[in-house]
Amino acid sequence: MSGLDHIKNDHSDFLKRELKNYLSDPLLMFKKWYQEASEKNCASPHAMSISTVSQSGQPSSRTVYMKELLEEGIVFYTNYNSKKAQDLAHNPKIAALFFWYCTEQQVRIEGVVEKVPKELSDDYFASRPRISQIGAWASEQSQEIEGRETLEERVGYFEKKFPNTVPRPQHWGGYLIKPHYFEFWQGRLGRLHDRICYTLSENKWLVKRIAP
Ligand SMILES: Cc1cc2nc3c(=O)[nH]c(=O)nc-3n(C[C@H](O)[C@H](O)[C@H](O)COP(=O)(O)O)c2cc1C
Repeated sequence: MSGLDHIKNDHSDFLKRELKNYLSDPLLMFKKWYQEASEKNCASPHAMSISTVSQSGQPSSRTVYMKELLEEGIVFYTNYNSKKAQDLAHNPKIAALFFWYCTEQQVRIEGVVEKVPKELSDDYFASRPRISQIGAWASEQSQEIEGRETLEERVGYFEKKFPNTVPRPQHWGGYLIKPHYFEFWQGRLGRLHDRICYTLSENKWLVKRIAP
């Protein structure tokens, strides 16, 4: 394995250059890092791993796409009957993880989710390609199916049912992750990486550095 054992770039000016400008709001810091990852053509910079915890206490993770970055937090869209949604209905606590290899950066986020307003989900659903809209109806996400044909038959069924506009299914929509913890990890030479944490306390972000 090689990867980050051999950090290529010297990020020694990271704190001087960046951190002091973003002490009050880690979402701004996150936005800046995300923009940089996008500009440097990191692969799928909006892909994040989200972890939820089941009713029995079992964590599970999967990749989803960040679709919006709001002042309040991060929005992703999914099926409200899925495994992750069932976990979140019992325990709305969530962890999200971004890793951008090309900038040698990782961001860990912890927070609580809430469903976004229906209008926001409606707008986003309406903007999606028809095939994705039909897919949202056809796929009972996380349920067992007999075979691929079952899915394809359901696609055919909903293609006929909605020959024109496809309405948003009630079971499909967005979650807003409202963060209360961020960790910004910047890879640095010799494994002496920077790790800067923000914890929300009484509406203020407390910032500290932790050892790599
Ligand atoms: C790159 C990538 C992006 C994905 N984006 C989403 C997404 O935005 N929403 C979603 O529901 N599933 C997305 N998925 C599928 C999920 O990883 C997962 O299989 C699905 O949401 C079901 O998860 P669950 O059974 O734990 O609820 C994506 C998968 C990959 C590999």
